[in-house]
Amino acid sequence: MTSYTLQFPDVTYPDALSPHPNAVSGAQSNQTSPPRYPSPWGSGAGEWAEAYKKAIEVVEQLTLEEKVNLTTGTGWQQEQCVGQTGGVPRLGIRGHCLQDSPVGVRYTDFVSLFPAGINVGATWDKRLAYERGRAMGFESRDKGVTVQLGPVAGALGRASLATGRNWEGFSPDPYLTGKLFADSIRGIQSTGVQACAKHYVGNEQEHFRQVPESRDYGFNITQPGSSNIDDQTLHELYVWPFADAVKAGVASVMCSYNLVNNSQACQNSYLLNHVLKSELGFQGYVMSDWQATASGVPAILAGLDMTMAGDIRFGDGSSYFGPNLTIAVLNGTVPQWRLDDMAVRILAGWYLVGGDTEVPNPNFQSWTPDTFGAVHAHVGSAWGTGLVNQHVDVRREHGRLIREIGAASTVLLKNDRGILPLNNTARLTAVFGEDAGNNPNGHNGCRNHACDIGTLATGWGSGQASSPYLVSPDAAIQHEVVSRFGSYESITNNSALTQINALARRVNDVGGVCLVFSSADSGEGFANVDGNYGDRKNLTLWQGADAVIANVSATCNNTILVIHSVGAVEIEQYKENPNITAILWAGLPGEQSGNAIADVLYGRVNPGAKLPFTMGRKRSDYGTDVLYTPNQEVPQFNFQEGVFIDYRGFDHRNITPVYEFGFGLSYTTFEYSDLVVEKLDVADYKPTTGTSRPAPTYGKIDNDTSTHTFPQNLTRIPLYIYPWLNSTNLSESYGAANYGNNSLIPQNALNNSSYSYPPSSGPNGGNQGLWDILFHTRVNVTNTGSVLGDEVPQLYISLGGPYDPKIVLRGFERVRINPGETVQVTFPLARRDLASWDTEKQDWVVSGYEKKVFVGSSSRDLPLKAVLKV
Ligand code: NOJ
Repeated sequence: MTSYTLQFPDVTYPDALSPHPNAVSGAQSNQTSPPRYPSPWGSGAGEWAEAYKKAIEVVEQLTLEEKVNLTTGTGWQQEQCVGQTGGVPRLGIRGHCLQDSPVGVRYTDFVSLFPAGINVGATWDKRLAYERGRAMGFESRDKGVTVQLGPVAGALGRASLATGRNWEGFSPDPYLTGKLFADSIRGIQSTGVQACAKHYVGNEQEHFRQVPESRDYGFNITQPGSSNIDDQTLHELYVWPFADAVKAGVASVMCSYNLVNNSQACQNSYLLNHVLKSELGFQGYVMSDWQATASGVPAILAGLDMTMAGDIRFGDGSSYFGPNLTIAVLNGTVPQWRLDDMAVRILAGWYLVGGDTEVPNPNFQSWTPDTFGAVHAHVGSAWGTGLVNQHVDVRREHGRLIREIGAASTVLLKNDRGILPLNNTARLTAVFGEDAGNNPNGHNGCRNHACDIGTLATGWGSGQASSPYLVSPDAAIQHEVVSRFGSYESITNNSALTQINALARRVNDVGGVCLVFSSADSGEGFANVDGNYGDRKNLTLWQGADAVIANVSATCNNTILVIHSVGAVEIEQYKENPNITAILWAGLPGEQSGNAIADVLYGRVNPGAKLPFTMGRKRSDYGTDVLYTPNQEVPQFNFQEGVFIDYRGFDHRNITPVYEFGFGLSYTTFEYSDLVVEKLDVADYKPTTGTSRPAPTYGKIDNDTSTHTFPQNLTRIPLYIYPWLNSTNLSESYGAANYGNNSLIPQNALNNSSYSYPPSSGPNGGNQGLWDILFHTRVNVTNTGSVLGDEVPQLYISLGGPYDPKIVLRGFERVRINPGETVQVTFPLARRDLASWDTEKQDWVVSGYEKKVFVGSSSRDLPLKAVLKV
């Protein structure tokens, strides 16, 4: 019998439970990525037509340097935003201002701190995803941001237990993520701000994402780690949400730090040229993550359109693009059509969303909170000072939406004896736990939120933003109790166990209620919080919360546990503990944290959220983990579990979770009935064939090198990235030794005659046949309880093949239902929802295996089923 050992020792699949053999063989150490050239030039198809027309009209008039300027960041901390490109002042075209984050505008004041992506995942609510995107878009726009660096679908959440950035995204399920990703993008882009879908792709752990960072942690690696992923898993899991993003019209995509199959994600021609620009027909532009560009010519020919932050290493004054791109075009290693395509894509993204008319110039600066300061922060005040922060308040009343999402994303996991909602008549309400209180250093007291002090409202890193206030649970619950002149006490020092014990005993004696708040944090790899290098090192609660819970629940027989965490934590013992009467998972709710949890605890909001990931018993249950010590000089992350992550893995290996994917209780009850399947009459799927038109070029490039040298009348800011040459001799300019070296040019990369269309391809999201609706499935949901409530009916499909997951999510809808009322919910099933990626055909294929649908309230509570007659 063969067995497949995963990269960490305690999970071995026997034959019968193995993932598809291709997943195993396609995820080996030192796996390679196939070359795909040339880089597809945009066609401006569909909704991009008008934007392309405008962009082309501009690009036709641009000089070589002006085109290069659009593609290149000006260098770390040289302008206001975390990334900023050069513009074309002559034509009144400003550079792009690219600013984090996926939860609000980073590095500035008077902005909102929105709930994290994982909370939006828990709402299972497409409307709220859109509304949050739109609200963040308005705030970005009014600060002068042209590109918001979010939302996130990579990390998807392979190691759902511990990775640093899962919480920035929505869920390890690609379907749920895809829908919420797309609606977030639509929301952001409805305001004139471009969204950036990141990180493409395989950025599933923080450890070893960058060489210098890893060396700082004492790991001697030579390149970032490689996510080794087979083609089927790549398409069905990790790229899936990016297809939704492209279909939603996302303007930009950020490629990630890691390697994929041992080729840098930002110069991986298979991922960029083939999958993204050809199969998915992406018309926008690809920017690198910050310092993730590994070369000039090879990266550009592989499909990279913009380098961020422009310099090779932060602040070093050199660039793979900038003057080196100017040289590369002049010596022919980068053809003009490729540069023109980059410039058109970048400008088209801007026109697509109306950024040219909607967005003001940046009125803030990321590098200081002060009103006045150095204009080019990296080089200091000698190079100009002035008004850098206008402190524009852009928040409107977004606090209301933040509170709504906070409550709508709170998952009720346990509610014994109907203890919740609280009726606010408890004789004594006691709140315990550091996670209920304030950070004594201020709620923005840790730079980038890289600490876990006080209540946890966001993770750390570039995925967070400052918060204008932070309503702590302590403050909100006290307000709740005091408004009725009740009795309230709280202890937020987790080491005060003597006092905690005494208070818990007293609460119990008088028949009161004990609320314990706990947390577990993670974030971006650049910060190490308590030995967690971005990724968590274990699944336990932080701040010593386990001791607080043990002490309180030992005597207080009405203990309610609230968890603020970035993902799964070990809580089986709390589920089993009879003194713990209720458990709520509140994720990372943002600035209105306390109000949102109080809304749920006191029943103003009936919880309707569902877990967007699985809570297992212990970390080995997950079948995937973070690689914490390098297994090679170039660490190899072998995704040998294939598509079996999160609930698919639990189902496959028959492991009972503590709380399953999709689970969440309500203060009312629901019943499911009358599942009907309607087959629609649609045309057969037609694989795409044919080839593109030849690559267009716009305008003429002057080959006289003397016209491309640094202009005499311009002050040169040190270390700033400009497009001009410093010598008319190309081989001397910037010592660009590799440029003009034709061995760097992969076969076919300069071919401008045509590229062929893969069968699954089509503009803006792939072959249109994949999006045809084949079935409508309908179900009735009745609120059988006595209060109004939200339910999220979920539809799962069994694709039926021997290597298919038992079930995969393919439909959900959050609905609000009055007591006694029945609503009908319709799930449209698209062809791609029923299809699998066929590696031989290189296309999506609906297999001949029987397809069944299951409908219910969680991945393990599916009372209704039907067969789909495909
Ligand atoms: C690196 C992060 O990975 C990315 O998400 C972020 O947008 C950039 N830094 C810019 O801050």
